[in-house]
Amino acid sequence: MLYPLPAVMVSLTDKEGRSNIITLAWAGTICTNPPMLSVSIRPERYSYDIIKETGEFVVNLTTKALTRATDYCGVTSGRNVDKFKEMKLTKLESEKVKAVAIAESPVNIECKLRQVMELGSHSLFIADVVNVRVDGKYMDEMGRFNLKAADLIAYSHGRYYELGKELGSFGYSIKKTKSKTKKAYTEEKGGLRTKAASEGRGRDTKKKEDKSKTTVGKKVKGRRKAEV
Ligand SMILES: Cc1cc2nc3c(=O)[nH]c(=O)nc-3n(C[C@H](O)[C@H](O)[C@H](O)COP(=O)(O)O)c2cc1C
Repeated sequence: MLYPLPAVMVSLTDKEGRSNIITLAWAGTICTNPPMLSVSIRPERYSYDIIKETGEFVVNLTTKALTRATDYCGVTSGRNVDKFKEMKLTKLESEKVKAVAIAESPVNIECKLRQVMELGSHSLFIADVVNVRVDGKYMDEMGRFNLKAADLIAYSHGRYYELGKELGSFGYSIKKTKSKTKKAYTEEKGGLRTKAASEGRGRDTKKKEDKSKTTVGKKVKGRRKAEV
C-alpha cells in the first residue's frame, strides 16, 4: 500500500452530544475546488454509524506532542472509553458543524458528508470541507501556515515519524537558480525555522503569544503558490 500517510484524529459528536475520536490513516485530499477530502472507515468501528447518521466530522491534524493520543484513539473504542477525558484533550466547538474539534491540534478541518461508498473492508466517506481553522501561533506574517513549527507527524507501515529535513519546494526542479543560496531563500520565505527562532528568539516569539484559532479564508488560500 501507499506510505507515508497522515494519521489524523477524526472527532465526531453523536445526536445525544457525546463526542469521540477515531484515528484514521486512510485519509486524503481529493479535490481542491470544491474543497473535499475522504476517509475510509471499517463498518465495525463505533464511529462509523455516528458519522453516517450525523453526516459531520472534524479532521484534526496530529503533531509530535499528540502522537500518544493519536495511537490511543486508534486502539481503543468510544464504546468503552471517553477518549477526550483519558487523553486530557480539549473539546473545541466548531464553527460550521456540530462535531467538536480537538483544541490541541494545530489544524481543524470541519467536514460535511457528501457520499458513502461501500468498498469492502472499508467504506469511503467523501466529504465537503466547510471550514478550516488553524492555530494562530503557526501562521506567519504572510498568512502562511508554518508546517515545520507545527511538528506534524507521518504514519508509515505501522510506525509514527516526525517530519525531517526539507528537500525542496513545489516546482523547485524547474526553477531558475537564484543568486541567494537555497537555505537563505527558504528561511526568508518562512519555510525553515532559523536558529534564533528555534531558541525562542526573533519573530516567532511574538507569534507564539497568539494562541487563537484562525479561520482560513479566501485571502489566506489566495496566497498559496502551489495548488495540486
Ligand atoms: C495509526 C492508525 C491508523 C488507523 N487507520 C484506520 C483507518 O484508516 N480506518 C479504520 O477504519 N480504522 C483505522 N484505525 C483503527 C481505528 O482507529 C480503531 O479501530 C479505533 O479503535 C476505532 O475507534 P472507535 O471504535 O471509537 O470508532 C487506525 C488505527 C491507528 C492506530
